[in-house]
Amino acid sequence: MRVLLVGNGGREHAIAWKLKQSKELTKLYIAPGNPGTAQYGENVAIKAEDVNGLVKFAKENKIGLALIGPEDPLAEGVVDMLEAEGVKAFGPSRAAAQLEADKAFSKQIMRSSAVSTAEGRTFTRFADAKAYIASRDEPVVVKAAGLAKGKGVMVCNEPSDGILAAEKIMVNKIFGPAGDKIVVEDKLIGEEASILAFVDGRSIYVMESSQDHKPIGDGDTGPNTGGMGAYSPAPVVTDEMMSQIEREILVPVVDCMNRNETPYKGVLYAGIMVTAGGPRVLEFNVRFGDPETQPILMRLKSDLLEVCLAICEQKLEDITLEWDERPAVCVVMASGGYPGNYEKGKVITGIEKAEKLDNVVAFHAGTAMKDDKLVTAGGRVLGVTALGDTIAAARARAYEAVDKINFEGAYCRRDIADKAIKSSR
Ligand code: AMP
Ligand code: GLY
Repeated sequence: MRVLLVGNGGREHAIAWKLKQSKELTKLYIAPGNPGTAQYGENVAIKAEDVNGLVKFAKENKIGLALIGPEDPLAEGVVDMLEAEGVKAFGPSRAAAQLEADKAFSKQIMRSSAVSTAEGRTFTRFADAKAYIASRDEPVVVKAAGLAKGKGVMVCNEPSDGILAAEKIMVNKIFGPAGDKIVVEDKLIGEEASILAFVDGRSIYVMESSQDHKPIGDGDTGPNTGGMGAYSPAPVVTDEMMSQIEREILVPVVDCMNRNETPYKGVLYAGIMVTAGGPRVLEFNVRFGDPETQPILMRLKSDLLEVCLAICEQKLEDITLEWDERPAVCVVMASGGYPGNYEKGKVITGIEKAEKLDNVVAFHAGTAMKDDKLVTAGGRVLGVTALGDTIAAARARAYEAVDKINFEGAYCRRDIADKAIKSSR
């Protein structure tokens, strides 16, 4: 089968690496891909946001399955457009993608399905948001309702900070039209976990749990990033809690999406806060997480292409997935200065040495080829991922690999997976 994978991050390198192991795969195209994905297929110069270009390419190249990595093309309706042309596509329709692309819609679905989440309200006028925030004496979280590259959420401990955040989003439009509408919600306290599930409209298969590390600094300090590392499984999610999340969050939401006539197909990602009162939803994403996908797919033994095809044919119930018992840890190496300004074009060395270690893959994110050399080309450069017999062993191996890789200004957190190691002691 000829497959088109859309995206160019670490997540897409991990998906390409996994697809390449499928016996069903005859040819893999990645649009636009990165030097990492180029090891497993042909990169084609079509941007992920160029939905018309993607559809045209899929038709002309007899693509059997298109797999969409990032949220923007999903929110633009690329799946509907591909399916209208007879191309199978893995991911939700434009209407179902609102679960991520419109946080007000997402809150509405959670309310209708009685899913536990932070108390929240939606505003389209700044004056109303200001009056509401001023009336609260608890910390608030202010969220641009639309897509803002993962940066549209501001956690505010003082009402005055909340008002300032709402003003920046709604009046100064720092996230553009994504801030025409905002959601203001209560701040939840606890440890976060990412729960990803395969969904085919009816059936749900919950993958192994994972945890991301959003802030730039050790000990969760400093500004948020796209994710500085991840590990799987996340011990904070016990088996019992996993069943509760499936029963009380995933099943009701998938049912509600059907009742709403926006049936869900693809990967449903629930960002969870494990609070003293149990798991609560922070957000839904309509795709694989980045960097959670890197450790999760290192642990998936089954054929990913077979699963994606079964989902497109509504046959997920026929599938059982096998997982490697061993934990996996992904450490992101970033450009110095990220998530602020950073320089690009720094030569990267040592990947081969790092990958000589057993069960290590250095997934590319922001890399490029320049004059036959691999150079940095983005904020998050590599996601160095390792399996180990214990989470501590996986962590040690991931850092051993990181220490073999060099580029000027390279930065990584040194405490990835520490929470898991502490809690498993
Ligand atoms: P979101 O994109 O909605 O997941 O938000 C990004 C990050 O903001 C989350 O991973 C949390 O760290 C934080 N966050 C979002 N909503 C809340 C909330 N209600 N309480 C506390 N933290 C939150
Ligand atoms: N790791 C967070 C995300 O993919 O949105």
